[in-house]
Amino acid sequence: MKKSYRQFYHANVLSGWANDPNGTIFYNGKAHLFFQHYPYKSEWGIMHWGHFVTEDFIHWDNLPLALEPLEDYEVICGCCSGSAIEKDGKLYLMYTAAQPELQRQCIAVSTDGGVHFEKDPGNPIVTADQISPEIAMRDFRDPRLFLKDGVYYMLAGARVKDIKDGQPVPEPQVKRSGPVSSPSLGDVTDIDPNIYGYGNLVLLKSDDLYHWSYVGKLLYDQEEYSEEFYHLNGVYECPDYFVIDGAEVVLSSPQNLPQMGHLYQNIHSGLYMLGGLDFETGRFQVDYIGEVDSGFDFYAAQTLRMPDGRVIMIAWKEMWDRSFPTREEGWAGTYTLPRELSIENGRLIQKPVREIEQFRKNHVSVKDVVCTDECRTIEGASGSVTEIKAVIDTGSAEKCGLKVFSSDKHETVIYYDRKEKALVFDRSRSGITIKGKDTVTQKRYLDIGEPEKITLDLFLDVCSVEVFVDGGKHVMTGNVYPDIDTDIEVRFFAENGTAELTELDKFDICV
Ligand code: FRU
Repeated sequence: MKKSYRQFYHANVLSGWANDPNGTIFYNGKAHLFFQHYPYKSEWGIMHWGHFVTEDFIHWDNLPLALEPLEDYEVICGCCSGSAIEKDGKLYLMYTAAQPELQRQCIAVSTDGGVHFEKDPGNPIVTADQISPEIAMRDFRDPRLFLKDGVYYMLAGARVKDIKDGQPVPEPQVKRSGPVSSPSLGDVTDIDPNIYGYGNLVLLKSDDLYHWSYVGKLLYDQEEYSEEFYHLNGVYECPDYFVIDGAEVVLSSPQNLPQMGHLYQNIHSGLYMLGGLDFETGRFQVDYIGEVDSGFDFYAAQTLRMPDGRVIMIAWKEMWDRSFPTREEGWAGTYTLPRELSIENGRLIQKPVREIEQFRKNHVSVKDVVCTDECRTIEGASGSVTEIKAVIDTGSAEKCGLKVFSSDKHETVIYYDRKEKALVFDRSRSGITIKGKDTVTQKRYLDIGEPEKITLDLFLDVCSVEVFVDGGKHVMTGNVYPDIDTDIEVRFFAENGTAELTELDKFDICV
């Protein structure tokens, strides 16, 4: 009998559909993870907000629906993404009430400690044309709230119109080929970018959360952005802003960002930008732009700050425009293992949330496995709900690495490719094939140069693989769909030369 692909230590929707994390916040003694949710089918539909809470980032309790799309202004796309903020002890949610050509920001508030939410009678609170003629009415969404020096700010994804002869070029009428069935809330490819401006991020401010004024757009004609970033034919969805280790960070999820070398191989991407936000003009002077995760399944990342100061990031561990093999089990939508963020040497560092360590059991340690043109099973390392830490000396091998979820039939391969100077996540023989619009299909490459040693920390959870590389300098995340009972071995291999698995530590994760 086929078992379920339900994961043990990752947040999963119980039934129906789930996408973006929303309203991530520590409030009333717990971490809250709201999420885009369609409870009635395992596919995207009119959006509700589901609600998980956790005390350890590993066990997630399901609370009642936080938002249901019952108001006129939410028909027909529902309560789309947004964020949460605490004000006067109450928990406020700000979300996008989305209609096919109209996206407006709304408020709901909880006075019972963050369980039930009342929508504000004054909704929608913010409409694009009230604040700036340059923001398109149909693409203005995913408000992320934050407080700075007593002022509330909202960062949102938007399409900013071109200005010609001092006037914004009007929005075109879009002829839709069918009903809205996609999360991009209309198919962006319907729109001629030449007459419609480009994706950008916008900053708004308010003294009270209810009255908002436009500050400006973040991305502007700055050399560091390059054409692809500044002229995006899509929206920078689900932004976030925070300060950590003295650095200002903007996260966002651009739709349709073109691939650049081994970067941005997914059809939609997850970016972080380091630099400085000008709170007078909205401009973000960028120092560095990086891809958050170099794997397959990572989108719409959001953070929360814990009372101990940690900034924790959680993302949707899926990707749009792909098949979802769990749909036939009546659910679709999982989230990453929460990650602790820091900035070191001008780059984002992501580490698995430390709470996971309490759930390690059955430690197996293996040392000095040398392979020359061969593949060996690592005794004692098998399992499908495990953590595997490995140090690999790449020696002379052209390719070397680990095969997980493996048997003679299937394998998910994480390997170093000397010719490509890259770490590769290969899911071409993992099990059920995932189909999608991506041009590069079953492999993801991460440029790592020519290191002698590679340090990996892998988290496996039934159908999920997260690979933390070199102490969190990079992460590659992807779901794979193996045969649950039989594809459980861990193997080490070297091709065209010798490599050594100098250390391997395996733990079962028991929750
Ligand atoms: C991102 C997104 C958001 C939108 C939501 C709808 O994945 O497209 O921009 O608010 O999903 O579910």
